[in-house]
Amino acid sequence: MGSQTLVTEILPENYRFLQAHIYSQVGIVLEDNKHYLFESRLAPIVKQFSLGSINALCDVLHTRRNPEIGQQVVEAMTTNETYFFRDPGQYEAIKTVLLPRLREERQATRTLRFWSAASSTGQEAYSLAIQLLEAGLQDWNIQILGTDFSSKVVERARTALYQQIEVNRGLPVTLLIKYFRRAGMEWQLTDAVRKMASFDTIDLRKSMRTLGPFDLVFCRNVMIYFDNETKRNIMKELHSTMFRGGWLLLGGAETAFGLEEWFDRKAIGNVTVYVAR
Ligand SMILES: C[S@@+](CC[C@H](N)C(=O)[O-])C[C@H]1O[C@@H](n2cnc3c(N)ncnc32)[C@H](O)[C@@H]1O
Repeated sequence: MGSQTLVTEILPENYRFLQAHIYSQVGIVLEDNKHYLFESRLAPIVKQFSLGSINALCDVLHTRRNPEIGQQVVEAMTTNETYFFRDPGQYEAIKTVLLPRLREERQATRTLRFWSAASSTGQEAYSLAIQLLEAGLQDWNIQILGTDFSSKVVERARTALYQQIEVNRGLPVTLLIKYFRRAGMEWQLTDAVRKMASFDTIDLRKSMRTLGPFDLVFCRNVMIYFDNETKRNIMKELHSTMFRGGWLLLGGAETAFGLEEWFDRKAIGNVTVYVAR
């Protein structure tokens, strides 16, 4: 018991250092009551690098001599939870309201561009790709960009490989059979879906003006981790990447600071969409 206590003990000054490190690296605010989160997520890194304790890990971070450990600490402290067709009401709104409009408006170019900002392991981007194929848009030029701060999740998204437990979450079995192939113990998306999406690392706090213009931007379940100033800056940048009338979708339970400056709020059934002005 004694050694376990020593491994996960965090001195107050190291706790403050870790909070500041995560905030400066990724913008995430971790409050004073997140000891358990630091302990459970950093203990494996302590073990991997044979450092003995979280306090010793902080000593290494202080020296900045090992960027790999610094990156691993940040990635360990971010939440990557995601699943296929998360917030199904939003996909229904895309199908019934946004796509019919875009089909008309973009008939001349037959080009549509979408962005899954904070895409984690790719389920959001690929759910949209599947939905567009189901809507009969395979002959259109469709580009879906998925981006995330973490290179680890971006690499995973690129493989388009998912475990059984991941395809069991949110994905109807008919779509699993139609758009995935068995790959050993995992499932891999077919080329028809994969070619519609590409993935890259992007920090949402950086300028994004060159990325657009997009018809739809997902920025879901990530704003909750930022402070108000960061949220406001991100809203402004997201807006700059969107077509006028384009949709921004936030996580089901999220609202965002500064939205009203750039977007009009529109209710479609139970779903709130933010329409770029
Ligand atoms: C909870 S996941 C959300 C995934 C997906 N959007 C969804 O709603 O299912 C949050 C993601 O945000 C990413 N993230 C956190 N801070 C970020 C930042 N500053 N820039 C870009 N991505 C960030 C994390 O790496 C993580 O993959």
